[in-house]
Amino acid sequence: MQRLGLFAAALPISLLLSCGTAGPQTPIASIHPAAPAGLVRADSGMVVSAHPLASAIGERVLREGGNAVDAAIAVHWALAVTTPWAGNIGGGGFMVVRLADGRTASLDFREAAPAAARHNMYVDQQGQVVPGLSEYGHLAPGVPGSVAGLFALHDSLGSLPMARLIQPAIDLAAAGCPLTGHEAHELNAARPLIGRHSTRPNAFTSRSSWAAGDTLRQPELAHTLERIRDGGAEEFSKGLTARLLVEEMRRGGGLITAADLATYHPRWRPPLQGTFQGMEVITMGPPSSGGILLLQMLRGMETADPSIWTGGRPALLHRMIEVERRAFADRAEYLGDPDFVRVPVQELIAHEYVDARMADIDPSRATPSTAIRAGSPVPEAAHTTHFSIVDPMGNAVSCTTTLNGAYGCGVVVGGAGFLLNNEMDDFSAAPGAPNAYGLIGGEANSIAPHKRMLSSMAPTIVTRNGRLFMVAGSPGGSTIPTTVFQVLLNVVHHGMDMQQAVSAFRFHHQWLPDTVRAEIGAIQPADSMALVEMGHVIRIRHAIGRADAILVHPDGTLEGGADPRGDDRAMGF
Ligand code: DON
Repeated sequence: MQRLGLFAAALPISLLLSCGTAGPQTPIASIHPAAPAGLVRADSGMVVSAHPLASAIGERVLREGGNAVDAAIAVHWALAVTTPWAGNIGGGGFMVVRLADGRTASLDFREAAPAAARHNMYVDQQGQVVPGLSEYGHLAPGVPGSVAGLFALHDSLGSLPMARLIQPAIDLAAAGCPLTGHEAHELNAARPLIGRHSTRPNAFTSRSSWAAGDTLRQPELAHTLERIRDGGAEEFSKGLTARLLVEEMRRGGGLITAADLATYHPRWRPPLQGTFQGMEVITMGPPSSGGILLLQMLRGMETADPSIWTGGRPALLHRMIEVERRAFADRAEYLGDPDFVRVPVQELIAHEYVDARMADIDPSRATPSTAIRAGSPVPEAAHTTHFSIVDPMGNAVSCTTTLNGAYGCGVVVGGAGFLLNNEMDDFSAAPGAPNAYGLIGGEANSIAPHKRMLSSMAPTIVTRNGRLFMVAGSPGGSTIPTTVFQVLLNVVHHGMDMQQAVSAFRFHHQWLPDTVRAEIGAIQPADSMALVEMGHVIRIRHAIGRADAILVHPDGTLEGGADPRGDDRAMGF
């Protein structure tokens, strides 16, 4: 590194019981059937992302001598083209970086509320949240942060010219990407959303139906990326792209103004640091809740009776569910944008606090969520995409970026060819009103001009004995922290390799609603029965998370885990 300037639908339990068989030797969860048979290993550098073309672009940057940050920038631009449901320039995200010399940093390029946003903007005169208003159309986007974020990252830690890093994305947008079956399906499903909310013709709805193998060309996006290549971050904040975005807002009655775009700034923040069984966990702090949740859950497992790791599976699953339930109750009460509300971060992750919080877990009974309130820390704290990168020098990047929902708010900026996010739905529209992920929140996450909405994203880097051990993260809204939590436990406690760890089926509890959401295969039938007897309510859910991760062995070799729930791909050399 040369420049270091900065230091599903819910189905009842009967279905869950109808598949698979339990036995004392069966592992904690079964492995996704689409998991690749082989394990991708590498000696020097590796990229794991949601799209094979984006992974290939990142790998090439590494091979040409670029560092992990260069590769991350190139992969982010590429995903904006290959993976339009989540990859973006009209959204935002979080990135955690660990340099080979041990220094760490995290970048918050989360969207912010426009200046004209108001506390009750999604509530009608009766005080009821208007369905869909924060999710679809021109009132749903926050001021995008991705372009400013990528340039801030490049200014501080990049080593190759930005033009080199953005060009592959421009070429892909102009020439077009062949669609996988997955992507064709996603695009067809999004057609009504994009058709209803976009005010100008666009690439995504240019055909009435997409099929695997079709080529998606995005000429307007190619031109936008060219302008950004030539004009830098200012092209997005003040140039023609900004003007096109503001015109789009005017046509559709949205709030984002030229001043909002011109005054948006990404923020370098100290990453959140915690420990788990002697390892150091470096993850994202507020305005994401992901890191706090992850550290609370890991601590909740560390202090469990050691017999849960060797005894019956129901005891282990029960502990994980109860730990998840309690962590999410704190999220709803305390977490929001630290530039606007005081978030008691260190208090919430303090071991004494978490230990007291987990102390009332009854090993034989589920605690109803109605009996759980947010704790009292001592006063003093479906569709996103994640990629993980390690370069030959040992620098690591963990980045999660999003439009929030698939294809964001459905608005394609006329003439500029990119989708806008619907991140405003991550605010708490009214006390107790659930957002798209069923998350509720209070005043700490209420809407205010320029405030950043609370996230669950948890880009994470783990070190062991001072050496890089794992780079991991996932999309999945509220299920992100639980996905990262389970991937880490799968490696550390269940002896899985990186691919198995991301492929294994997962489950999730988020306090409210008071149900365990589980992928088929996450919980063995006999264990489900035991958990139901303890008082848990279990519902089947479609895919939970899409984790992309890298494991680093003590000899420096790399092991990739690309989630089989999507087209994700690990590539290394
Ligand atoms: O920031 C958040 O927590 C959400 N906007 C993330 C959305 C997400 O992961 C959707 N993915 N499936």
